[in-house]
Amino acid sequence: MKIVVVHGSPRKGNTYKATKQFKEEMEKQGDIEFVDFFLPKDMPEFCHGCMNCFLKGELTCPHARYTMPILDQMVSADGLIFTTPVFALSLSGCMKSFLDHYAYIFIVHRARSEMFHKKAFILASTVGAGSKAAIKTISTSLKYWGVNRVYSYSFTTFGTEWNNIETEKKSKIKSDIADKAKKFYTEVDSGKKHTPYLFISFMFKMSRFILKKYADETSLDKQYWIKKGWYSGEKSPF
Ligand SMILES: Cc1cc2nc3c(=O)[nH]c(=O)nc-3n(C[C@H](O)[C@H](O)[C@H](O)COP(=O)(O)O)c2cc1C
Repeated sequence: MKIVVVHGSPRKGNTYKATKQFKEEMEKQGDIEFVDFFLPKDMPEFCHGCMNCFLKGELTCPHARYTMPILDQMVSADGLIFTTPVFALSLSGCMKSFLDHYAYIFIVHRARSEMFHKKAFILASTVGAGSKAAIKTISTSLKYWGVNRVYSYSFTTFGTEWNNIETEKKSKIKSDIADKAKKFYTEVDSGKKHTPYLFISFMFKMSRFILKKYADETSLDKQYWIKKGWYSGEKSPF
Protein backbone atom coordinates (compact mmCIF):
# COMPACT_ATOMS: atom_id res chain seq x y z
CA MET A 1 0.00 0.00 0.00
CA LYS A 2 1.33 3.42 -0.92
CA ILE A 3 0.32 6.48 1.08
CA VAL A 4 1.27 10.04 0.16
CA VAL A 5 1.63 12.38 3.13
CA VAL A 6 1.52 16.14 2.58
CA HIS A 7 2.78 17.93 5.68
CA GLY A 8 1.29 21.41 6.05
CA SER A 9 4.16 22.78 8.11
CA PRO A 10 7.94 22.39 8.17
CA ARG A 11 7.94 22.40 11.98
CA LYS A 12 8.57 19.06 13.64
CA GLY A 13 6.04 19.99 16.31
CA ASN A 14 2.70 18.66 17.53
CA THR A 15 1.21 17.99 14.11
CA TYR A 16 4.34 16.24 12.88
CA LYS A 17 4.63 14.09 16.00
CA ALA A 18 0.98 13.07 15.82
CA THR A 19 1.44 12.29 12.12
CA LYS A 20 4.50 10.21 12.95
CA GLN A 21 2.45 8.15 15.39
CA PHE A 22 -0.37 7.84 12.84
CA LYS A 23 2.10 6.46 10.29
CA GLU A 24 3.64 4.06 12.81
CA GLU A 25 0.18 2.74 13.71
CA MET A 26 -0.57 2.18 10.02
CA GLU A 27 2.76 0.39 9.61
CA LYS A 28 1.72 -2.05 12.34
CA GLN A 29 -1.25 -3.10 10.20
CA GLY A 30 0.67 -4.32 7.17
CA ASP A 31 2.99 -3.61 4.29
CA ILE A 32 3.06 0.11 3.63
CA GLU A 33 5.20 2.70 1.86
CA PHE A 34 4.97 6.40 2.69
CA VAL A 35 5.93 9.18 0.29
CA ASP A 36 6.27 12.42 2.24
CA PHE A 37 6.07 15.98 0.95
CA PHE A 38 6.87 18.88 3.24
CA LEU A 39 5.36 22.29 2.69
CA PRO A 40 6.45 24.85 1.80
CA LYS A 41 9.74 23.18 0.75
CA ASP A 42 8.14 20.90 -1.83
CA MET A 43 5.72 23.58 -3.13
CA PRO A 44 7.53 26.82 -2.39
CA GLU A 45 5.38 29.04 -4.62
CA PHE A 46 2.00 30.68 -4.24
CA CYS A 47 -0.48 30.22 -7.07
CA HIS A 48 -0.12 33.36 -9.23
CA GLY A 49 -3.62 33.07 -10.64
CA CYS A 50 -2.32 33.07 -14.22
CA MET A 51 -5.15 30.68 -15.23
CA ASN A 52 -2.72 28.68 -17.36
CA CYS A 53 -3.79 25.39 -15.77
CA PHE A 54 -7.41 26.02 -16.73
CA LEU A 55 -6.85 27.56 -20.15
CA LYS A 56 -3.60 26.16 -21.53
CA GLY A 57 -3.08 22.99 -19.53
CA GLU A 58 -1.46 22.03 -16.25
CA LEU A 59 1.98 21.61 -17.81
CA THR A 60 2.06 25.36 -18.48
CA CYS A 61 1.66 26.18 -14.78
CA PRO A 62 4.78 28.19 -13.87
CA HIS A 63 5.14 25.83 -10.91
CA ALA A 64 4.58 22.59 -12.85
CA ARG A 65 8.00 21.35 -11.79
CA TYR A 66 6.55 21.16 -8.26
CA THR A 67 2.90 20.36 -8.94
CA MET A 68 3.27 17.55 -11.48
CA PRO A 69 5.59 15.18 -9.58
CA ILE A 70 3.44 15.53 -6.46
CA LEU A 71 0.25 14.94 -8.44
CA ASP A 72 1.80 11.86 -10.07
CA GLN A 73 2.56 10.49 -6.62
CA MET A 74 -0.93 11.29 -5.32
CA VAL A 75 -2.60 9.72 -8.34
CA SER A 76 -0.64 6.49 -7.99
CA ALA A 77 -1.11 6.28 -4.20
CA ASP A 78 -3.71 4.13 -2.49
CA GLY A 79 -4.39 6.76 0.14
CA LEU A 80 -3.60 10.37 0.98
CA ILE A 81 -2.84 12.09 4.28
CA PHE A 82 -2.86 15.87 4.71
CA THR A 83 -1.73 17.54 7.91
CA THR A 84 -1.95 21.08 9.18
CA PRO A 85 -1.46 23.06 12.33
CA VAL A 86 -4.23 25.62 12.83
CA PHE A 87 -3.06 29.10 11.84
CA ALA A 88 -5.38 32.06 12.38
CA LEU A 89 -8.38 29.78 12.88
CA SER A 90 -7.81 27.93 9.63
CA LEU A 91 -5.33 25.78 7.71
CA SER A 92 -1.69 26.78 7.25
CA GLY A 93 -1.00 29.16 4.37
CA CYS A 94 1.34 26.72 2.66
CA MET A 95 -1.34 24.03 2.67
CA LYS A 96 -3.86 26.47 1.19
CA SER A 97 -1.34 27.46 -1.45
CA PHE A 98 -0.70 23.80 -2.19
CA LEU A 99 -4.42 23.15 -2.69
CA ASP A 100 -4.85 26.28 -4.85
CA HIS A 101 -2.46 24.77 -7.38
CA TYR A 102 -4.83 21.85 -7.90
CA ALA A 103 -8.10 23.71 -8.50
CA TYR A 104 -7.94 22.53 -12.11
CA ILE A 105 -8.49 18.92 -10.99
CA PHE A 106 -11.79 19.86 -9.38
CA ILE A 107 -14.63 17.76 -10.73
CA VAL A 108 -16.00 20.79 -12.57
CA HIS A 109 -12.76 20.94 -14.59
CA ARG A 110 -10.47 17.98 -15.22
CA ALA A 111 -10.75 15.55 -12.32
CA ARG A 112 -8.39 12.57 -12.36
CA SER A 113 -10.26 9.25 -12.59
CA GLU A 114 -7.86 7.67 -10.10
CA MET A 115 -9.13 9.98 -7.34
CA PHE A 116 -12.62 8.49 -7.38
CA HIS A 117 -11.70 5.39 -5.43
CA LYS A 118 -9.17 7.10 -3.16
CA LYS A 119 -9.47 7.63 0.59
CA ALA A 120 -7.92 10.55 2.41
CA PHE A 121 -7.21 11.48 6.00
CA ILE A 122 -6.74 14.98 7.41
CA LEU A 123 -4.92 15.54 10.68
CA ALA A 124 -4.93 18.94 12.39
CA SER A 125 -3.61 20.29 15.66
CA THR A 126 -4.47 23.48 17.46
CA VAL A 127 -3.91 25.29 20.74
CA GLY A 128 -7.64 25.63 21.21
CA ALA A 129 -9.79 26.51 18.21
CA GLY A 130 -10.01 26.55 14.44
CA SER A 131 -9.50 22.92 13.52
CA LYS A 132 -13.02 22.60 12.12
CA ALA A 133 -12.42 25.37 9.57
CA ALA A 134 -8.94 24.05 8.76
CA ILE A 135 -10.23 20.55 8.10
CA LYS A 136 -13.26 21.77 6.17
CA THR A 137 -11.15 23.74 3.69
CA ILE A 138 -8.87 20.79 2.97
CA SER A 139 -11.76 18.36 2.89
CA THR A 140 -13.72 20.51 0.43
CA SER A 141 -10.82 20.55 -2.03
CA LEU A 142 -10.33 16.80 -1.75
CA LYS A 143 -14.00 16.08 -2.27
CA TYR A 144 -13.99 18.31 -5.34
CA TRP A 145 -10.98 16.34 -6.60
CA GLY A 146 -13.36 13.38 -6.49
CA VAL A 147 -11.76 11.65 -3.48
CA ASN A 148 -14.19 8.92 -2.47
CA ARG A 149 -14.02 9.35 1.32
CA VAL A 150 -12.33 11.97 3.50
CA TYR A 151 -11.73 11.24 7.18
CA SER A 152 -10.20 13.51 9.79
CA TYR A 153 -8.93 13.94 13.32
CA SER A 154 -7.90 16.99 15.29
CA PHE A 155 -6.60 17.53 18.77
CA THR A 156 -6.12 20.53 21.02
CA THR A 157 -2.94 21.09 22.95
CA PHE A 158 -3.93 24.15 25.04
CA GLY A 159 -0.51 25.53 24.28
CA THR A 160 1.54 22.57 25.37
CA GLU A 161 4.26 21.03 23.24
CA TRP A 162 3.77 17.33 22.38
CA ASN A 163 6.34 16.00 24.84
CA ASN A 164 4.80 17.98 27.73
CA ILE A 165 1.12 17.23 27.14
CA GLU A 166 -0.38 15.98 30.38
CA THR A 167 -0.19 12.17 30.58
CA GLU A 168 -3.92 11.45 30.63
CA LYS A 169 -4.67 13.80 27.76
CA LYS A 170 -1.73 12.52 25.75
CA SER A 171 -2.80 8.90 26.15
CA LYS A 172 -6.30 9.83 24.93
CA ILE A 173 -4.83 11.55 21.85
CA LYS A 174 -2.53 8.60 21.22
CA SER A 175 -5.30 6.06 21.55
CA ASP A 176 -7.54 8.14 19.23
CA ILE A 177 -4.73 8.28 16.68
CA ALA A 178 -4.09 4.54 16.96
CA ASP A 179 -7.77 3.85 16.42
CA LYS A 180 -8.10 6.24 13.47
CA ALA A 181 -4.91 4.97 11.83
CA LYS A 182 -6.04 1.37 12.10
CA LYS A 183 -9.44 2.21 10.64
CA PHE A 184 -7.87 4.25 7.85
CA TYR A 185 -5.53 1.39 6.96
CA THR A 186 -8.44 -1.07 6.86
CA GLU A 187 -10.49 1.32 4.76
CA VAL A 188 -7.71 1.92 2.22
CA ASP A 189 -6.83 -1.77 2.17
CA SER A 190 -10.45 -2.74 1.46
CA GLY A 191 -10.32 -0.91 -1.88
CA LYS A 192 -14.04 -0.32 -1.39
CA LYS A 193 -15.55 2.38 -3.56
CA HIS A 194 -18.37 3.99 -1.59
CA THR A 195 -21.37 5.77 -3.06
CA PRO A 196 -20.10 9.24 -3.99
CA TYR A 197 -20.90 12.23 -1.82
CA LEU A 198 -24.32 13.44 -2.93
CA PHE A 199 -23.25 17.01 -3.65
CA ILE A 200 -20.30 15.76 -5.70
CA SER A 201 -22.48 13.61 -7.93
CA PHE A 202 -24.79 16.61 -8.24
CA MET A 203 -21.83 18.86 -9.14
CA PHE A 204 -20.72 16.32 -11.73
CA LYS A 205 -24.10 16.50 -13.48
CA MET A 206 -24.16 20.26 -13.11
CA SER A 207 -20.69 20.52 -14.67
CA ARG A 208 -21.77 18.51 -17.70
CA PHE A 209 -24.75 20.82 -18.10
CA ILE A 210 -22.51 23.92 -17.88
CA LEU A 211 -19.97 22.49 -20.34
CA LYS A 212 -22.72 21.65 -22.83
CA LYS A 213 -24.33 25.05 -22.52
CA TYR A 214 -21.35 27.38 -22.26
CA ALA A 215 -18.05 25.75 -23.26
CA ASP A 216 -16.78 26.13 -26.81
CA GLU A 217 -14.63 23.65 -28.70
CA THR A 218 -11.39 25.24 -27.45
CA SER A 219 -12.25 24.49 -23.81
CA LEU A 220 -9.70 22.05 -22.36
CA ASP A 221 -12.29 20.97 -19.83
CA LYS A 222 -14.77 20.11 -22.58
CA GLN A 223 -12.14 18.24 -24.60
CA TYR A 224 -11.15 16.31 -21.46
CA TRP A 225 -14.74 15.40 -20.65
CA ILE A 226 -15.30 14.20 -24.24
CA LYS A 227 -12.14 12.07 -24.10
CA LYS A 228 -13.25 10.57 -20.79
CA GLY A 229 -16.71 9.73 -22.13
CA TRP A 230 -18.24 11.88 -19.36
CA TYR A 231 -19.55 14.51 -21.77
CA SER A 232 -21.82 12.10 -23.62
CA GLY A 233 -22.73 10.32 -20.40
CA GLU A 234 -21.40 7.07 -21.88
CA LYS A 235 -18.96 6.76 -18.94
CA SER A 236 -18.90 7.97 -15.35
CA PRO A 237 -15.99 8.42 -12.94
CA PHE A 238 -18.04 7.06 -10.03
C1 LIG B 1 0.89 31.72 12.99
C2 LIG B 1 0.14 30.87 13.97
C3 LIG B 1 -1.22 31.05 14.11
C4 LIG B 1 -1.92 30.28 15.02
N1 LIG B 1 -3.27 30.45 15.13
C5 LIG B 1 -3.96 29.71 16.01
C6 LIG B 1 -5.36 29.88 16.13
O1 LIG B 1 -5.99 30.67 15.44
N2 LIG B 1 -6.03 29.13 17.04
C7 LIG B 1 -5.38 28.23 17.84
O2 LIG B 1 -6.03 27.60 18.65
N3 LIG B 1 -4.05 28.02 17.73
C8 LIG B 1 -3.33 28.74 16.84
N4 LIG B 1 -1.97 28.54 16.71
C9 LIG B 1 -1.32 27.49 17.49
C10 LIG B 1 -1.11 26.21 16.69
O3 LIG B 1 -2.24 25.83 15.97
C11 LIG B 1 -0.79 25.04 17.61
O4 LIG B 1 0.23 25.40 18.49
C12 LIG B 1 -0.41 23.83 16.83
O5 LIG B 1 -0.49 22.67 17.66
C13 LIG B 1 0.99 23.97 16.31
O6 LIG B 1 1.31 22.84 15.57
P1 LIG B 1 2.81 22.44 15.36
O7 LIG B 1 3.38 22.15 16.73
O8 LIG B 1 2.72 21.23 14.51
O9 LIG B 1 3.49 23.59 14.70
C14 LIG B 1 -1.24 29.31 15.82
C15 LIG B 1 0.14 29.14 15.65
C16 LIG B 1 0.82 29.90 14.73
C17 LIG B 1 2.30 29.68 14.55
